[in-house]
Amino acid sequence: MSKNLRLGILASGSGTNLQSIIDACRQNRIDAEVAVVITNKPGAGALNRAEKADIATRCIDHRQFDSRESFDAAVVEALREARVDLVCLAGFMRLITSTMLDAFPMRIMNIHPSLLPAFPGLNVQRQAVEYGVRFSGCTVHFVDSGTDTGPIIIQAAVPVLDDDDEHTLSARILKEEHRIYPRAIQLFAEGRLRIEGRRVTIAPGLPLDDSALINPPLQ
Ligand code: GRF
Repeated sequence: MSKNLRLGILASGSGTNLQSIIDACRQNRIDAEVAVVITNKPGAGALNRAEKADIATRCIDHRQFDSRESFDAAVVEALREARVDLVCLAGFMRLITSTMLDAFPMRIMNIHPSLLPAFPGLNVQRQAVEYGVRFSGCTVHFVDSGTDTGPIIIQAAVPVLDDDDEHTLSARILKEEHRIYPRAIQLFAEGRLRIEGRRVTIAPGLPLDDSALINPPLQ
């Protein structure tokens, strides 16, 4: 079945978030399809996952480009070829430039493993443990020109336990990432996300069916 919203997923790593999005599309929890998976890393686990799911893949190795802009231009071309509507960064370890931002204005999402604006950047689960915060979590946000600074769509909080290290905390957070990223994409697919400055508001969903009263409710 062909769906309306076409996703382009950019990943550099093992691709568990990619997998959660593929699964949600296949199970109709997201009204969208993954049109292409692009990685900058030859051999990334994400490529395997995409191939297994019969999804088109592109490997665009950033080392073959002499600037971030020229790399981004090649990625934009691949996204356009695949007629992508929404770009989802899922463990994509490259800073993106205005070349990509201008091509997909407020149509790029990212998942980050902290409760932004706390701990932007890299190795943030370790930083959370070392800092001693009692809660951390994950954030899906629109991407703007800063590092992990764009308008926040959805967050999940998890406790940080006394015996946590960066690995146990990462695992707890990752589980929630797999829940909230598909949800953020579905809200976008339903046209319910409104961006007002820094704030994202969520318009109410359409009632599932006007003609029947259903108890217990479907949602
Ligand atoms: C996730 O923790 C994500 O939040 C971060 O990189 C990790 C990617 O994991 N940006 P995976 O490749 O989706 O398994």
